Amino acid sequence: MCQSPLHDFLHGLPKCEHHVHLEGCLTPELIFELAQKNAITLPSDPAYTSPKTLTQRYGNFTSLDDFLSFYFTGMTVLHSESDFALLAWTYFQRAHADGVHHAEVFFDPQVHRDRGVAYETIVAGFVAGCKRAEREFGLTTRLILCFVRHLPVESAAQVFEHALANSHFHPETDMLHGVGWSSTEVGPPKDMFRELYATAKTAGIRLTAHAGEEGDPSYIATALELGAQRIDHGIRLVEDVELMQRVVQDGVLLTVCPISNVQLKCVTSVAEVPIRRFLDAGVKFSINSDDPAYFGGYILDNYCAVQEAFALSVDEWRHIAETSVRESWVDEVRKEELLRRIDDHVSKHLEVVLV
Ligand code: HPA
Ligand code: ZN
Repeated sequence: MCQSPLHDFLHGLPKCEHHVHLEGCLTPELIFELAQKNAITLPSDPAYTSPKTLTQRYGNFTSLDDFLSFYFTGMTVLHSESDFALLAWTYFQRAHADGVHHAEVFFDPQVHRDRGVAYETIVAGFVAGCKRAEREFGLTTRLILCFVRHLPVESAAQVFEHALANSHFHPETDMLHGVGWSSTEVGPPKDMFRELYATAKTAGIRLTAHAGEEGDPSYIATALELGAQRIDHGIRLVEDVELMQRVVQDGVLLTVCPISNVQLKCVTSVAEVPIRRFLDAGVKFSINSDDPAYFGGYILDNYCAVQEAFALSVDEWRHIAETSVRESWVDEVRKEELLRRIDDHVSKHLEVVLV
């Protein structure tokens, strides 16, 4: 909980989350629980002595790649459909408690397939978690298939072809709603998914991409050139003023994750995340949690951290919340409903303040 007088206002503010990896919601406690259930031997690294030692190690990530080694190890405990469903459901319960009304969530099928888990098992489990959140909380959800940059393009092509062959992106199946890319940024060719993104674009599939987190603005430019409609992170955009003007003109959304940026040493504090620069320049952005079980902060913690660093006004928060709704990959009827809820929430807050 933050010290801001706006804490309760921020808690109740209807939120959309656009950047959260379901595998990044695997808490140390759940890693140990599922490792035992599925008879998985965790690494001999002393960090894996207990959930407590693992949590302590998570507090000392040195870079994106240092984090990713723990992230990919953690997910090895997921085996059955019910494990994937439980993971998604665990996240949605927390998101609901934080005031999330709509969530667009990533998952990394290539990595699970590489260790022998069937694509169908992964998707069926995550879809079940999404459906439960829709049913029990009225929380709308969107699943985004994420390609990973540390594995060969061929492995991404295989899961993509499989998803296409089974019509998983078709509106009638209502299973997958977009494609993204993530994992290690600096190193692999910037445009490694050129052909796959071209195919996806032709098929009318929505595209996003992690870029400008550790990598310089040229990673963002390449992602946009390949057809990304959104940029995940994108904080290094401020280093290229011309590109920033283009992003403003084209109305591209950045899905910013302030606590993640601090934990992965992309910035030294939340105050260094260019929130004020983006607001002043008219860059659209939403505020998100990324891998909350690894970074020690869910979406509300991220809103609070931004408030403590920037002391935004109620009007600025209304603008951020409304932008998050307008840029969501959801139909107009749902957008109108969420915009009304934001309006109600802000009006109630102002009534109390003005009394
Ligand atoms: N960056 C890149 N890849 C990721 C991240 C991230 O923050 N989280 C999970 N995979
Ligand atoms: Zn991410």
